[in-house]
Amino acid sequence: MTPAADNPPDANLSWTAEEHRRAGREVMDWIATYLTTLREAPVFQPVPSEAAAAMLASAVPEQGESIHAILERFEREIGPYPFGNGHPRFAAWVNSPPAPIGIYAQALASAMNPSVAGGNHAAVWVERQVIEWLKSIFGFPHESMGLLVSGSSAAAISGLAAARHAAATRIGWDMRRNGAHIVNEHGSPVRMLVYESAEAHSCHQKAVELLGLGSANMRIVPSDGALRMRADALDAMLAEDIAAGALPVAVIASAGTVNTGAIDPLDAIADVCARHGVWMHVDGGYGAPAILTSEYRMELAAIARADSLGVDAHKWMYVPVDAGMVLIRSATSMRDTFSLVPPYLRSDDDQHGVHGPPWLSEYGSEQTRPFRALKVWMALRYFGTSGYARLIAHDIAMARYLADRVRATPELELREPQGLSIVCFRAVPAALDADDAAIDALNQRVLASLQLGGRAFLSGTVLHGRSWLRACIVNPGTMPEDADAMLDAVLDAVMHEVRSYL
Ligand SMILES: Cc1ncc(COP(=O)(O)O)c(C=O)c1O
Repeated sequence: MTPAADNPPDANLSWTAEEHRRAGREVMDWIATYLTTLREAPVFQPVPSEAAAAMLASAVPEQGESIHAILERFEREIGPYPFGNGHPRFAAWVNSPPAPIGIYAQALASAMNPSVAGGNHAAVWVERQVIEWLKSIFGFPHESMGLLVSGSSAAAISGLAAARHAAATRIGWDMRRNGAHIVNEHGSPVRMLVYESAEAHSCHQKAVELLGLGSANMRIVPSDGALRMRADALDAMLAEDIAAGALPVAVIASAGTVNTGAIDPLDAIADVCARHGVWMHVDGGYGAPAILTSEYRMELAAIARADSLGVDAHKWMYVPVDAGMVLIRSATSMRDTFSLVPPYLRSDDDQHGVHGPPWLSEYGSEQTRPFRALKVWMALRYFGTSGYARLIAHDIAMARYLADRVRATPELELREPQGLSIVCFRAVPAALDADDAAIDALNQRVLASLQLGGRAFLSGTVLHGRSWLRACIVNPGTMPEDADAMLDAVLDAVMHEVRSYL
């Protein structure tokens, strides 16, 4: 970074235009270099323990520092130790690189710095516009509503809170006033149940616990061989539980599981939910944007039948973290669940005046809300749905390329079938005459040494009780040579581990 002007000794919020430009140029130089040289850098390197300890030990700054000194400190202490996503050979969890337009959108949103709770200012309309676009992409009806939230975990809390409220209201229980210890007209406790497969993301259990429903009241619906929820089993469980007097609150279906990218049979699940009058929450955190591709359009079409949907633009839409979204089929139900308007926030339906349309804070739990929508708005304008279709299709093609390479490698076993852009595989070296536990331990060590090695970064998971390596490609910068390099790094790690085992 080149030197920029020092702050005046009395640091303040009113920078001159020249100070803004100098700081901005330094920041942009760093971003440009960082993002265009990532390929040559290690995928990941942990923060050295002395550096981490020094960070925690350092005292609260009493005297201000110059902008330049602060940016230099960033460059030295923070920049070299990224999470790893963005690198073309990072394929762990579900973390994409940031679309550059989103980086700058975030800066613009911070400069405007609105609270998007409500009012008649542009950020409110941008968020409403983004919600309208999402409704159109996912086939949600006009009377639905949504919000930008921090991610699918927050979307799960919103969706399940609305589901819980709707279920209680149906049997005449005022959930908001009386809480979750629901009793029927005879004063007997009513058991509220939530249904998901064992492959559903853990954020749903957290949401169930936070909402006071209790994880013991989660019913795990069996999956088929492709790890998709079995709609027939769900049907039978719901019938049995309802006959026993329970109150089913919601079924959580996955539009792409985090483990394998399996897509639950959404249409069949929607039929079952409709038959039993139960709320369907679709977790589209990872997979829902694949609806934009011609390949997955039909399989994901029944997302349109969900009562609530979580989607993460910060995953497969490449928008910088955080950019989650929740859609709820009934705006009324969403507002009934969350709206609480004290006198100091009353907007009196002043649609076109200062207060604008109903405040967005009436549809969720947060009051002050960031201007997340701008980065989604800009990214959608920049890529268009056709650009997204192309990029997502690229990621899926890269995952298939990797799967083909794994299939052709005798030391590796491929998990079939693959879903979306996830490939699970594991080392089963012929040189090793080992039992299941030893093979699992080997794969765990391979993963650890791979992650620390800096050449490639995958994550791991457990399927049917066995350890697997897992690659999830959500990076259009990942090319066949990167997939080759990932595999080379895995095989080197396997050989190293096998040698130390023998
Ligand atoms: C399928 C799926 N659902 C939900 C989540 C949780 O989303 P978030 O981390 O954005 O809260 C994830 C995160 O990876 C996910 O992959």
